[in-house]
Amino acid sequence: MIIALDGPAASGKGTLARRLAAHFDLPHLDTGLLYRATARSLMDAGERLDNERRAEEAARGLALMDFDEEHLRGREMGEAASVVAAIPAVRAALFDMQQAFATRPEGAVLDGRDIGTVICPQAQVKIFVTASPETRANRRAIELAKRGEKVDYAAVLDDIRKRDERDSHRSSAPLVAAADAVLLDTTHLDIEAALKAALDIVAEKAGLRA
Ligand code: CDP
Repeated sequence: MIIALDGPAASGKGTLARRLAAHFDLPHLDTGLLYRATARSLMDAGERLDNERRAEEAARGLALMDFDEEHLRGREMGEAASVVAAIPAVRAALFDMQQAFATRPEGAVLDGRDIGTVICPQAQVKIFVTASPETRANRRAIELAKRGEKVDYAAVLDDIRKRDERDSHRSSAPLVAAADAVLLDTTHLDIEAALKAALDIVAEKAGLRA
């Protein structure tokens, strides 16, 4: 079974993906990390984020093993990832790796922006996770504060709105729900309630509970 979770920043898709993967004992790929690591690699090399040729090279040079998640989760990396993610050659460079992960014989859970539309249009279960921008900014501010970052709620909300705009309006694989995705609005749901709703969707789409 392939479970594809897409949605905007801090909608809860990452947490849900991890919980679903644990529940069904499936491998999980957070595809945002690929874009974050591409941006990190460019920044470490002193390159501009809009240098398309260098960005493609950085994406092709990624080795999943080397990911230092801790350094990729910061606020500035989300922004930077969204800039390189708009480059079609970067998306093309990361396509095979994601598809190979998704088509493992045991199945997989992937979360991102284009999983149900581009990477795994064949996924049995597609969930488009949303929440209001204010709720998402709140969650992200708490998450960043826990990481020890100094947070300003207004700046986080501004980031989220800018990122929604960039991700939804780019020409290559824009953030959009697949026609056969089920919408899950987590604005008023805590993690356990969101997980229950997601499990109900999996049960309905794939006939699986555990
Ligand atoms: O956790 P959050 O949703 O803030 O970020 P993320 O999932 O790590 O994604 C960071 C950025 O990478 C997004 O704003 C997108 O621009 C890009 N991304 C993408 O284009 N396609 C994906 N499958 C995953 C992420």
